[in-house]
Amino acid sequence: MQNDAHSAIDQPSAWVQRWAALIPAGGRVLDVACGSGRHARWFAAQGYRVDAVDRDANALSALAGITGITSRAADIENEDWPYAGEKFAGIVVVNYLHRPLFKHLLESLDRGGALIYETFAAGNERYGRPGNPEFLLKPGELLHIAHGRLEVIAYENLTVDAPRPAVIQRMCALNGPVT
Ligand SMILES: C[S@@+](CC[C@H](N)C(=O)[O-])C[C@H]1O[C@@H](n2cnc3c(N)ncnc32)[C@H](O)[C@@H]1O
Repeated sequence: MQNDAHSAIDQPSAWVQRWAALIPAGGRVLDVACGSGRHARWFAAQGYRVDAVDRDANALSALAGITGITSRAADIENEDWPYAGEKFAGIVVVNYLHRPLFKHLLESLDRGGALIYETFAAGNERYGRPGNPEFLLKPGELLHIAHGRLEVIAYENLTVDAPRPAVIQRMCALNGPVT
């Protein structure tokens, strides 16, 4: 049981896999706060060119030598945004929230590119960590970020059972026409 749960957590998010095809094939994908890179690896296997950033150099070592992945150790909360002036066809953020970065994520998203975001939301404190509001999206917060700037393709705020009970919010949005 424990092993099953662990391997599920190591699998790429079903939400990310579901919407990944909206990222132009072969494009450059940024995995933000990638940890040991479950999404970076999955995107590289799909033929994308992946940049993966995390402050945990030890976690990043799992990505060393994987074709198609360039990893970078950086503290993205306390250092300058390391991708200033660069553009990505896809930006993926899972289980991570640092609100001041939203402006950089939007600036780094190429025209036509997709932002795929999934993390814990208000109400998750019932189930454990994270319970600090600083790390929990407020109702509609991802929609608010996208409003007037991105075209929202899909959005959910719900309680899930697996890989463990949690309240999450998730969005896929395109840097395309906004009407
Ligand atoms: C819960 S893990 C999520 C990892 C990955 N996105 C995933 O879904 O498997 C959160 C990650 O955020 C990274 N992180 C936290 N603060 C950071 C910072 N200031 N700069 C860069 N990465 C940070 C941690 O090192 C950790 O790998």
